Amino acid sequence: MSVADAQTSTDSLGGGNVPEHVAIIMDGNGRWAKDRSKPRHAGHRAGVAPVRKIVEHAARRGVSYLTLFAFSSENWQRPRVEVSKLMGLFVEALQRELNSLHRNNVKLKFIGARERLQNRLCKKIEAAEAKTEGNSGLTLIVAVAYGGRWDMVNAARQLAECVAKGDLKADEIGESHFSQALALGGVPDPDLLIRTGGERRISNFLLWNLAYAELYFSDCLWPDFGEDEFDDAMAFYASRQRRYGNTEKQLGIA
Ligand code: IPE
Ligand code: IPE
Ligand code: MG
Repeated sequence: MSVADAQTSTDSLGGGNVPEHVAIIMDGNGRWAKDRSKPRHAGHRAGVAPVRKIVEHAARRGVSYLTLFAFSSENWQRPRVEVSKLMGLFVEALQRELNSLHRNNVKLKFIGARERLQNRLCKKIEAAEAKTEGNSGLTLIVAVAYGGRWDMVNAARQLAECVAKGDLKADEIGESHFSQALALGGVPDPDLLIRTGGERRISNFLLWNLAYAELYFSDCLWPDFGEDEFDDAMAFYASRQRRYGNTEKQLGIA
């Protein structure tokens, strides 16, 4: 089923309690490869198919924004061959998937320190964003060379520049200015964070934006993650009561 068809099909889970924005830390590729006595990059390659599946499936479930953590600021420290294979894989996957994403009305956006990426990847990213800019289906946000701390420092720098130029007063800076200056400015905060691969940590992902996300950790390694595992996370989300600091009574639940 195409993403476009998927969006019009009925949602069978969650009784309408579907997260508007799902963020995923796609972890476990290296261990998947190790379990098969293969090199780490074989695990990264095996991690492409689940991306395609989950993009389609998230749209089918009525998710509006899907943010995928593909490469962190800290992942630059990995062995050079692994980094270079990963960058090559990003270029290749973008090239292969772009037309079908576009046909399926997906809007692509990338967040992260783009200036650190190779020129050929930057070019592909810019072309993909421009091509899909007018699409109105699922917004797919890919975090590459992204770190939550990098994002916050960047936002602080932008606001400092506004103050220096006299466009903003320091004592006027509020949460909305800050969140607008972040890489996901204008995008609603993730409602649900999924991390595959068994670790229970954020690893410098969307530090600001995850403030009230429901956290779901799966032991499944990313290359093995599929529709059923995604649906388990959706069911977990549907069972949560989100109070944002209020009492049950205030929310009219008790
Ligand atoms: C996630 O899988 C992909 C990236 C971080 C690029 P890993 O490569 O971290 O896989 P593990 O955690 O070593 O199994
Ligand atoms: C987080 O995974 C980054 C991505 C999935 C892109 P890592 O494997 O880099 O995180 P740590 O090292 O286990 O914290
Ligand atoms: Mg990992």
